[in-house]
Amino acid sequence: MLLRKFILVNLLFVAAGALHTVIRVPVRRKANYDADGTKSLIWLYNKYKITPTRPGPFHRDSSGVLKKRQAAGASAEVNADDQLTDTFYTCPILIGTPAQQLEVTFDSGSADTWVWSSQLSPQTVDLASSRGSAYYDLAKSTSYTNLTGSTWSARYGDGSSASGTVVADVLKVGDITIENQAIEVANTLSYSFIIQTANEGILGLAFSRLNKVQPVPQRTPLDNMVAQKGIPGNQALFTCYLGSYKDVGDPDQGMSFFTFGQIDQDVVKATGKQISYTPVNNTKGFWQIDSEFITVNGNKTVLADNTAIVDTGTTLVVLEDKLVAEIYSTIPGARYDAQEGGWVFPASTPADKMPTVVLAVGQTEIIIEKEHLGFTPVKKTGMIYGGIQGRGNSKYNIFGDTFLKCVYAVFDAGNMRFGVVQRIDKTQNIAG
Ligand SMILES: *[C@@H]1O[C@H](CO)[C@@H](O)[C@H](O)[C@H]1NC(C)=O
Ligand SMILES: *[C@@H]1O[C@H](CO)[C@@H](O)[C@H](O)[C@H]1NC(C)=O
Ligand SMILES: *[C@@H]1O[C@H](CO)[C@@H](O)[C@H](O)[C@H]1NC(C)=O
Repeated sequence: MLLRKFILVNLLFVAAGALHTVIRVPVRRKANYDADGTKSLIWLYNKYKITPTRPGPFHRDSSGVLKKRQAAGASAEVNADDQLTDTFYTCPILIGTPAQQLEVTFDSGSADTWVWSSQLSPQTVDLASSRGSAYYDLAKSTSYTNLTGSTWSARYGDGSSASGTVVADVLKVGDITIENQAIEVANTLSYSFIIQTANEGILGLAFSRLNKVQPVPQRTPLDNMVAQKGIPGNQALFTCYLGSYKDVGDPDQGMSFFTFGQIDQDVVKATGKQISYTPVNNTKGFWQIDSEFITVNGNKTVLADNTAIVDTGTTLVVLEDKLVAEIYSTIPGARYDAQEGGWVFPASTPADKMPTVVLAVGQTEIIIEKEHLGFTPVKKTGMIYGGIQGRGNSKYNIFGDTFLKCVYAVFDAGNMRFGVVQRIDKTQNIAG
């Protein structure tokens, strides 16, 4: 664990030392993660309060939370660890004076920035320390002030929850320092959060109107960067480049990073194309865009008024059920597996038997790489859980990591637009 911290500190240092280049906030991928397609889908359904319309091992508990039913009839929690491990992308941030480093998930699907803290129970703090996880120790920061009377609480996919009080402190993301950032300090975490080891908090990158601090909602780090002129108002943006473990053999080694305030032109140049932009509708607080057609092996279906939410904190892509059925109908041996609650296909499928699926970002066509049509193997079955699943009763699509791994993405809040350029990936590793 010490070694891990050492490497990350060095990454930050190296990045900060490279003057005149764009600062890349490195994204850490969790090694040896044990992904579970069904649980990722249930997490997504809960995050967006979606009811599935196809049969699956789903069941609602008395508080309305969707859970995975076990074969025996008992229901299993979808732990925060399952999802956070699947998403498995965390980034280093620095909080307080002197700076304390934490590993958090950058989540464009929420607007709260909260961290593990010294306000948690002594047992929880001890557990975190014993496994080498960091937490924000208020007593060790000389720069924080209490936002007295402010509270927050978040409820996640499994009905697990986190809540606490709020302070203002210095937050450093990449080379950008934010003064008085509202940091939501956890003082209670439900069990499933306590046992997860994937991250030490969340940094919300949706629009501030979704912020859940009471009584007065607080600004997100991106909004504060702009308000404090940490980044120019005409560059009120962040970018996201998510690699995959399937791409470590590629020229970019499956590298992943976020940038703030600047677009990484080296990445754009490598694609040989320009970034295409489409307007964002943030009425609901999300990065929501038009997505009015889909093409499967050249067969185009027009979807009038259809929209999609782009979410860096979600693993899968979900679309209208009948379109998902059309996609998998093109793969020999693919089927809807009611036990898994999702579409699966044979792991042995060669790339030339996989469909070319094009999703619309405004008028721009983005191809979902064949390797990302497969999310993760379904244990002991020879099948792969699909990276695209049904959206149930949702009126919009969700574009999570299955989509983001195929592009370089620009979240431009200043100009209220979303930009994408398809990344080049010549090698497709379907079985994972
Ligand atoms: C902030 O509030 C916490 C919890 O109520 C308290 O322990 C701490 O002393 C306060 N810190 C300051 C700087 O007022
Ligand atoms: C933006 O979204 C809201 C709510 O989802 C909708 O009522 C409104 O018509 C949308 N605006 C545009 C320009 O599409
Ligand atoms: C093309 O898409 C439509 C709409 O989803 C579907 O009904 C039709 O079967 C598809 N045609 C082919 C040749 O796949």
